[in-house]
Amino acid sequence: MAQTEKTLEDLFLILMQDTYSAEKQVLRALGKMERAAESERLAAALDAHRAETEGQIERLQQIFELLGKPARGKPCEAMQSMLDEADEILQEFKGSEALDAGLIAAQQAVEHYEITRYGTLKSWAEELGLTEAVPLLGQTLEEERKTDAILSLLAKERVNVEAAEA
Ligand SMILES: [Fe+2]
Ligand SMILES: [Fe+2]
Repeated sequence: MAQTEKTLEDLFLILMQDTYSAEKQVLRALGKMERAAESERLAAALDAHRAETEGQIERLQQIFELLGKPARGKPCEAMQSMLDEADEILQEFKGSEALDAGLIAAQQAVEHYEITRYGTLKSWAEELGLTEAVPLLGQTLEEERKTDAILSLLAKERVNVEAAEA
């Protein structure tokens, strides 16, 4: 038996706020990584995902509206730590042949984090009967998965290009 009045709806709102803050942080970081990337294809993929991320932030705003709650972020410390690490790699490996490998790995960690968050949000939205929120969250989840897959391909391609050049 639950001991307090806290509900799954409260939990959903907290995760929404966390994810909203995380996406806004990601939006800023993607621009920075894009400018640093050595490979044009990686820069293009990061740019495309930056545009997608803007749409994802709008979807979260739509869901806050559905909930009748203000769109507000609760600073996501997990994302901040991941982005701080990405920034360290960017500074330390700038101009080196390993920079893109580091950027791809850092961004894949972000995508995996987002995939778990949206997976959870989507199943909680289903459980709570938030039928309009479910497809919005599903669409973002698909974009995060697709981005992760593209980054995996770019990582492989990098290795192949280096092998060919060796
Ligand atoms: Fe995202
Ligand atoms: Fe993402």
